[in-house]
Order: sequence, then C-alpha cells, then structure tokens
Amino acid sequence: MPRACLLGTGFAVPDRVVTNHDLSGVMDTTDEWIRARTGIEQRHWVREGETGVQLAVCAANRALDMARVSARQLDAIVYATSTPDHFAPGNGVYLQRDLGIDPIPALDVRAQCSGFVYALSVADAWIRTGQYQRILVVGAEVQSTGMDVTTRGRNTAVIFADGAGAVVLGPTEDADRGILAFDLHSDGAFADKLWVDVPGSMYHPRIGPEQLAAGRQYLDMDGREVFRHAIARMPESVRTVLEKVGARPDEIALLLAHQANLRISEMVQRKLELRDDQIYNNIQRYGNTTAATIPIALDECVRGGRVRGGDLIVLTAFGSGFMWGSAALKW
Ligand SMILES: CC(C)(COP(=O)(O)OP(=O)(O)OC[C@H]1O[C@@H](n2cnc3c(N)ncnc32)[C@H](O)[C@@H]1OP(=O)(O)O)[C@@H](O)C(=O)NCCC(=O)NCCS
Repeated sequence: MPRACLLGTGFAVPDRVVTNHDLSGVMDTTDEWIRARTGIEQRHWVREGETGVQLAVCAANRALDMARVSARQLDAIVYATSTPDHFAPGNGVYLQRDLGIDPIPALDVRAQCSGFVYALSVADAWIRTGQYQRILVVGAEVQSTGMDVTTRGRNTAVIFADGAGAVVLGPTEDADRGILAFDLHSDGAFADKLWVDVPGSMYHPRIGPEQLAAGRQYLDMDGREVFRHAIARMPESVRTVLEKVGARPDEIALLLAHQANLRISEMVQRKLELRDDQIYNNIQRYGNTTAATIPIALDECVRGGRVRGGDLIVLTAFGSGFMWGSAALKW
C-alpha cells in the first residue's frame, strides 16, 4: 500500500491587518490584556467582498507551485472549514470551480479547529487505498464576519481571525517518508462550549430577529472550559500518535500545535517536555485561524527551512465539538 506524502504547502491571509490597538478602539480591551492572555499581537481580517474561497485559491496555487503539480492534475479536494461562504453547498466546490479544473470530487470537512487534521486523514485514506492519487487539502476560515466586535464579544473577537493554508498530497513507496499515523476523537458532550447556535435547521425560521438581537449568530465560547480540555487533550493525543509510530517526544523534530492561544501551546510544550527548537508558534501574527493554523504554520516552517527530509513532524489540534486529534508524518 502506498503512503501519502506532502508534495507542497502554501498559505494566504488577507492584506488587512488588525492590531490589538485597533480592537481597543472599538471595545473595552487592551493590548496588554490580549498579549498576556493569548499571545496575539495582530491578526488578518478580510475586507468586504473578500472570501474564504479566494484565500483558499491563493493558498492552493502556492502549494501546487511548490509541489510542481498543476491544478488539472488533482484528483480530489478536501476542504476543512467551519465558516463556509454559504450554508450550502460547501466551499470545496467553489474552490474546484475557481481553480478552473475538471469536475473532480470536492468534499467539505466540518471539524472546526481540528478540521485540517481530520481532512488530512480523509485524503491519506484515499491515497492509501489507491482511490485517488493527487489530493489538495485545505484548511481555510473567515471568522471575522461571525464575531461580535463589541465589548459583548471581546472574549472571542480578540482571538479568532481569517486565513487559508493548503497542502498537496501524493502517493509514495518510500518507506522513510509520508504520513504515518493518526489519532482522532470527538466528544459532543461539550458541543455548546464553543459553538455558533444559529442559523440552524432546528429553528423555524433558521434565524429570527430575537436570536439576532441576543447575538446567537456569533461564535460563543466558554474560554475556561476550552482551555482546561485543550491543555489535557492535545498532549494526550500526541503521546498516543507517537506510541503508534514507536517514537518518543524527544524524537519529534517539529510539533505544530493548533494555534488556539499561546498559553495553551506553551502548556502543551511543557507537558510534553519539548525543547523550544521542537515547536513553532505564529499566533502572535495571525491569531487563531481555526482550521488554517496548522497548514499556515507548516508552510512557514517549510519555506523557512525548519524542516528537513526524514524529520518526524507531529500535528495536533483541539477545538469546537469538542474534536481533537494528531497526525505523525515523516517529511
Ligand atoms: C478566553 C480567555 C483568554 C479568557 O481568559 P480567562 O483568564 O479565562 O478570563 P475569563 O474568561 O475568566 O475572564 C476574566 C475577565 O476578563 C474579561 N475579558 C474577557 N475578554 C476580554 C478582553 N478581550 N479584554 C479585556 N477583558 C476581557 C472577562 O469579561 C472577565 O471579566 P470579569 O472578571 O469582570 O467578569 C481564556 O479563557 C482562554 O484562553 N481560553 C481558551 C480560548 C481558546 O483558546 N479558544 C480557541 C480554542 S480553539
């Protein structure tokens, strides 16, 4: 059975930079509070008219260039997002359309912050079974249009942001390369700890004036619960995926943890007793871009020379659902 390996990476964020100072002008918050609690210094938010799919096209083209694969050679698209341009259809079909390619399958994965890891596992399974050869996997989000950018929404508005990351996967027979293992979980008991309530098909109509007035269309988060679970689940999952591949934490060349919050990433690092050279954080510049954080960080590491052939890379994520998981791969 072939393994899936990463052939190229790319990312894109909107040009518009929103600093902590910008936010303190529109809500009761401060640069000091945001840096101390989250590590974030700035983030990128779309301008009106700019879409998640546009960011995904840009990220995908960069990944395709690096992979030396033309969009027409793709066999499938797996697109992780919790913030599609529309309620239906999913964003994958718009990406297929805007890349101008044949009517290949395009599947949306809804696993929020863990979306990229889940999407990667779908593409990996398709490649291993020989169903498809070259697959574009995207994690992309536009969170800014779904947040309450007033004091009422300050616990989420300062954290979440927009961006897209992409990888191109292909088969390899090389035993020293490729995706080695996954560890995936979900626990719906915590579904309302980080969620967007409306619009929802359980409501008649799906969204109404009272719900809008109550702000139920905005991302709602119980920050303390998310924090508590994130710092337990990510290290646990990393250990599990390492056991599957017979490796120890000190053998990881690079851990890319979902960029939820710098304090969470630091706790994950501490719990796994990882050295600074084994981890990479960029939340300071991009905020939490949900399904996009891992592929954005991966592309920065690849282009920045942080990964070499044969390196053991571990990806780990935790978020809304709760859903969490990890992937282990050899570069
Ligand atoms: C959101 C988070 C930073 C809040 O920090 P915290 O120490 O838990 O703070 P609390 O929620 O208890 O709130 C403490 C106070 O700060 C206030 N506060 C919240 N957001 C604020 C902001 N942006 N600026 C200033 N004050 C803020 C709260 O209103 C509260 O005020 P009160 O004590 O007067 O009620 C923290 O819970 C966290 O990091 N959670 C994980 C979030 C995350 O990573 N989400 C992504 C998951 S994928």
